[in-house]
Amino acid sequence: MKIRTIGVEEYLNVWEKKATWDIAQSTISSLTMGEILHLDERAGSTFYDQLDKEKMNYGWIEGSPDFKAEVAGLYRNVDPDCILQTNGCTGANLNALMSLIEPGDHVIAEFPTYQPLYDIPRALGAHVDYWHIREEAGWTPDIDELKHLVRKDTKLICINNASNPLGTVIPADMLREIVEIAASVGAYLLSDEVYLPLEDTESFESVADLYDKGVVTNSISKTYSVPAARIGWTVSNKDVADRIRTYRDYTMICGGVFNDALATYVLRNKDKVLDRNRAIILKNRAIVQEWIDAEPRASWVPPKGVSVSYLRFDIPVDDEDFCLKLLAEEGVLLVPGSRFELPKGARLGYCASEDTLRGGLQRLSRALRQFD
Ligand SMILES: Cc1ncc(COP(=O)(O)O)c(C=O)c1O
Repeated sequence: MKIRTIGVEEYLNVWEKKATWDIAQSTISSLTMGEILHLDERAGSTFYDQLDKEKMNYGWIEGSPDFKAEVAGLYRNVDPDCILQTNGCTGANLNALMSLIEPGDHVIAEFPTYQPLYDIPRALGAHVDYWHIREEAGWTPDIDELKHLVRKDTKLICINNASNPLGTVIPADMLREIVEIAASVGAYLLSDEVYLPLEDTESFESVADLYDKGVVTNSISKTYSVPAARIGWTVSNKDVADRIRTYRDYTMICGGVFNDALATYVLRNKDKVLDRNRAIILKNRAIVQEWIDAEPRASWVPPKGVSVSYLRFDIPVDDEDFCLKLLAEEGVLLVPGSRFELPKGARLGYCASEDTLRGGLQRLSRALRQFD
C-alpha cells in the first residue's frame, strides 16, 4: 500500500520539541496526572485503588464495560456492543476506513481537512472526490456541491466535524441534509468528531445519533485533554463493528488495562474537564481576537468553540519558510497552512497556557513587521 506522509504530523514530529512558544497544538492544554487525579476530589485514591487490584494482562479486548458505558453516555441511544476501543482517534479512523473501503470504491471527502480522512481511502484504492470548503463561505461546506458529487455507487462520505484546522462546525440542519444525501444512495457517513465544540454544545449533533450507516470516530486526546492515554473509539452499526473487530485484532488487540482505566476515569469526570476547557477556549479565543484586531497582517474566521483555528497571513513569502524562520528566530511554533493544503496561513492552536499564547502572539507580530 502506498500512502503519503501526514503533512501536519511530519512537521510536528521534527519541530515541536524545539519550540519555546508552542501555539500549534490541537489539544486543549493537556492535563497533568496530578490534575487528573484531583478531578474526583479523592486525590487519586479511586483510580489507584482500582488499578492496584488489576492484573496487568490484556484486559478487556474491546474496552471494559465501564469504558463502553461512559462512551455510550455521550450519545442518545448507542448499544455498547457497537462501541470499540481503539488507539486514539488515529486508530479509530484507520480501522474504520480499512473496514469500509475496497479498491475502486467511490468516496467523497470534505477538503481541506484532516488528511487521513481522504488519504487513507485513496491509499486503499478508492476514487476520492473532494467536497471543497471555502473561505468565502466562512469555511462552511455547500450542500449543493455535495448533491452534485454524490453518485449511485458512492460508498462513503467523510467529514471532520468540527474541522481541524478550520475550527468550523457543521450546523445540525446541514448535518441532517448530509445524512439524507448519504441515505439516498445507501452510502456510509464517517464523521471524525474528535473536536467537540465547547460553545453552543447542546446544538451539536453526533452522526451516531442520526444515521444507521453513520460511523463515528473520537478519542480523549483533544476535547478531553488526555492524548497520553492513546484511547479512542468507533461507534457504528453492528455489521460495521464486526468488520472493525477483525481489523483491530491485526492492528492493536486492545488498548491496555492502564489506558482503559485512565480513559474511563476521565470520561466519568468529563463535566469538570469540559468546564475547565470551555473556560480556556473562551478566554484564549478572546485574547487572539484582540490580537487580530490590532494585527493588520493576520485574519481568521473565529473558531466555534473548537481548539484549532486557521490564521490567514498577508505575507509575500511561502508560509512554511515563514514558520520555520519564526521558530528559528523567535522560538514560536505554528503549523504552516500548506501542511493542510491551505497555503498563505498557519494553524494556530490557541489553547496553550495564557503566558505561552500571549508570548507567542507578541513574537509572531514582531516577525510579521518585517513585511511592513
Ligand atoms: C481530526 C483529527 N482526528 C484524529 C486525530 C488523531 O487523534 P488521536 O490523538 O486521538 O489519535 C487528530 C489529531 O490531530 C485530528 O486532528
